[in-house]
Amino acid sequence: MKQKSVRVYAPASISNLGPGFDVLGLAIDRPGDYATARRTDEPGLHFSIRTEHDGIPSSAKENVAGHVASLMLEEFKPPFGVDLLLEKKMPLGSGLGSSGASSVAAAAALNVLLPKSLKKTDLLRFVVEGERKASGSPHADNVAPSLLGGACLIRSYDPLDVIQLPIRNTIVWIIVHPHVVVRTQEARDVLPTSIPLTAAIRQWGNVSGVTAGLLAGDIRLLGKCIEDVIVEPVRARFIPGFDEVKRAALDAGAYGCSISGSGPSMFAIAHTRIAGTMIGRAMVTAFRRHGNIHCDTYISHVNMHGAKIVWTKER
Ligand code: HSE
Repeated sequence: MKQKSVRVYAPASISNLGPGFDVLGLAIDRPGDYATARRTDEPGLHFSIRTEHDGIPSSAKENVAGHVASLMLEEFKPPFGVDLLLEKKMPLGSGLGSSGASSVAAAAALNVLLPKSLKKTDLLRFVVEGERKASGSPHADNVAPSLLGGACLIRSYDPLDVIQLPIRNTIVWIIVHPHVVVRTQEARDVLPTSIPLTAAIRQWGNVSGVTAGLLAGDIRLLGKCIEDVIVEPVRARFIPGFDEVKRAALDAGAYGCSISGSGPSMFAIAHTRIAGTMIGRAMVTAFRRHGNIHCDTYISHVNMHGAKIVWTKER
């Protein structure tokens, strides 16, 4: 058997982008997870994890990366085993698309080892299974951008249809991650099962506006449409100081601000990195004032590459 190993980086992502619950998401540069995969003579999957974060499942069965890799091995039955190491750089329940990045890193690494590699888009059906494992729902608005890069619109789930939006990548995205945990499943369980037509009309107007704003790189339009009348009002209570942090972002010059994914991270948008830094500081100060909550801040344009091979070795 030919030896082969690969190391892959999969970026974090902001999903929902305000009104686009489960249908809009984009990749950012940092943070992200790494997966290193190596062919072995011993059949099956040997999974291990390296992380500083607590509570990350370490078995192949329970960890989303191990789960996704197992599904791929079951389907393709390659004539070798795989040693998979996940370097988990983000905590779970962060709103940064943490489970999505792990699933994507594993799938993209394993794909390189397969005798016949798949196209990135063909990996989508595996990585959404990682999300199902993590939160009970196979949503694609984190995994699609983390895998494919850019901003993605999930036009349909049945069948899965992901559109990579041809955006003008001019807008700066600020993400502030307060160190509290919000479990995605819990944040989904509180959502309404039906909504009034008036709310739906406002929401799909805003989703279309966010999409148009991304395409045109029109920060004013985008800011106006980062308004979520359905999900944000229900989830805000999971984020200590939500109203104050949003106010602080807007007062500091952000064009829009909302919850990143299911939270607790919040995102805002700005024209420049300098403005983004000021806005990030204002948000962090508001979190600290509210409950002495410590935060990490990330400032990024949209990451257009998605999952990326860091190196491959063949011996
Ligand atoms: N769209 C999903 C949600 C993203 O909001 O529940 C979870 O990261």
